[in-house]
Amino acid sequence: CSIIGIISSKNVVAPALVDSLKRMEYRGYDSVGVATLATTNRISVRKGIGKVNQVNSSLNLTEMEGFVGIGHSRWATHGGVTDYNAHPHPCCTEDIAVVHNGIIENYLPLKEELVKKGHRFRSETDTEVIAHLLEDHYNASRDIKAAMLETVSQLEGSYAFVAMFANGSLACARLDEPLVIGVSDNAYYASSDVLGFLQYTDQAMFLDNRDIAIIDRDGAHIFTFAGEPVTRGVTKVAWELADVNKGEFAHYTIKEIFEQRTSVKAATYQEEHKIKVFCDTIAAAGNIIVTGSGTSYHTSLITSMAGCRALKKRFEPVMASEFKYNMDSIDKDTVVLAISQSGETADVLSATKLARAAGAKILSIVNVSTSSLARAADVSLAINSGPEIGVAATKSFTGQVSLAYSVLDRISGGRIGFDRDAVSDKITKMLAGSAAIERLVNVTMPKVNDIYLLGRSIHFPIALEGALKMKELAYVHAEGIAAGELKHGPLALMDKNAVVFVLNPDDKTYGDTLSSAHEVKTRGAKIIGISNVSNDIYDAMIEIPKMENELLYPLVEVIPLQLFSYYLALRNNVDPDFPRNLAKSVTVK
Ligand code: G6P
Repeated sequence: CSIIGIISSKNVVAPALVDSLKRMEYRGYDSVGVATLATTNRISVRKGIGKVNQVNSSLNLTEMEGFVGIGHSRWATHGGVTDYNAHPHPCCTEDIAVVHNGIIENYLPLKEELVKKGHRFRSETDTEVIAHLLEDHYNASRDIKAAMLETVSQLEGSYAFVAMFANGSLACARLDEPLVIGVSDNAYYASSDVLGFLQYTDQAMFLDNRDIAIIDRDGAHIFTFAGEPVTRGVTKVAWELADVNKGEFAHYTIKEIFEQRTSVKAATYQEEHKIKVFCDTIAAAGNIIVTGSGTSYHTSLITSMAGCRALKKRFEPVMASEFKYNMDSIDKDTVVLAISQSGETADVLSATKLARAAGAKILSIVNVSTSSLARAADVSLAINSGPEIGVAATKSFTGQVSLAYSVLDRISGGRIGFDRDAVSDKITKMLAGSAAIERLVNVTMPKVNDIYLLGRSIHFPIALEGALKMKELAYVHAEGIAAGELKHGPLALMDKNAVVFVLNPDDKTYGDTLSSAHEVKTRGAKIIGISNVSNDIYDAMIEIPKMENELLYPLVEVIPLQLFSYYLALRNNVDPDFPRNLAKSVTVK
């Protein structure tokens, strides 16, 4: 979900709120709403189901009047996707309205109590309790700070929220969800993401956990949840992050796939002192755990395999969502390397929190260098990929792998042999063949419901990543299988209706994987080979370049799978940038 609040001394805020919501749309997009404070000092709310442009054209959000306002785009957690459940949520008197990200775990008992006191609820959401609690406490004290302190003391869970009061103030609070204040000459912004205001100002104040900010025309006043006033420094955020348009491309996803020509290089440009400490920490670690979610978990698998081989020491990959169940070996000799594009994924943040409490050191690889994960780590390196808007991760994946490889090369004296220019040239060549992949999807490929991807060793994580792209982008059932496991079960699924991708360059997995290909071919499946050497067994082949070290193949193998998934999405009439039910950044556990 995304949050934006604006107080301006000069401009009507609704157009800016809508523009911010569009820029952050990748964070959630099932419903949208805006509330502004009109000159009559009445809060007016317009909200509905759909993406920002749809809701704006049906409800004319940009025409709302007022110099103060809040906006939200939602990715449903509690309560279905309905107009009522969209944010902002007003309280009974409509003198307060709230937008919120996260989950209020104890909302049911709070709601029961409020209902007993006479509050009338209009939605099924957990968020609405915040509006009613604030109303209750504000009516008692007529003091916004007191109302905020009382309210946060009752809320359990994780949240970032912005409340607009009919006196023209905004009040925000943050607990385990991101919230940033933007400061310009004539306006203040409160947003879940710097992209929400970066088009207006690059001056940002990052709130800490358990911070409350009350913003009025006199400025932003920050307190802890205990009511102590605190100051948070203003950081200058890199402007280039604001560059989020599709350029010559039809979708962000394909634009970002093509950006890999350069982003694999950008990932390796690091400040010397930082990368040195990062490498020294890994080199000195007794025990290394690599964690992430989704695509970033696949990077964790690759980093772990490559780390074991390059450094001859054990790296253990653990899914971030499984981390808390696998804490037994974590101690002060442990280094947890957390990988995340957004740096805001709740499962990853909670894993690092638990690891830190058990004494571990935390390293992170992120794309968003100002993210919560970057700030929670002892040392964090950024992959410098620029904003990734498409929900399915593409350039961030190859950026993460490139950075992990250059770190491992630096520690091991070049055992992986990652050469950023050579890899970038090879990716550029792969992308030049995109028309052939488009043809494969639209002409050669039969209409199928089941796609399997086989790979061994370092190719197995790419089988998983390719399958994830197909599921996310094209809504096709796809499964990555360690080729050697075929005979232990999946072989039963193979028949003439299956399409099987075989990740099979001529490295030491070649012969074994070829046998697996024969096993599925015999059962009638169609085979698409991804290899640098042709073989009659393939019904179709996607050629990849020869790589010097087999650990480098993931960086070129994944490109045709990303392209394939993108074109398959188009064939299936799916908007690849905004897959249903998914969000770019999952800030709830
Ligand atoms: C979501 C996205 C995935 C992404 C995962 C991890 O589930 O839909 O595409 O891989 O989060 O995101 P992160 O920002 O932590 O890399």
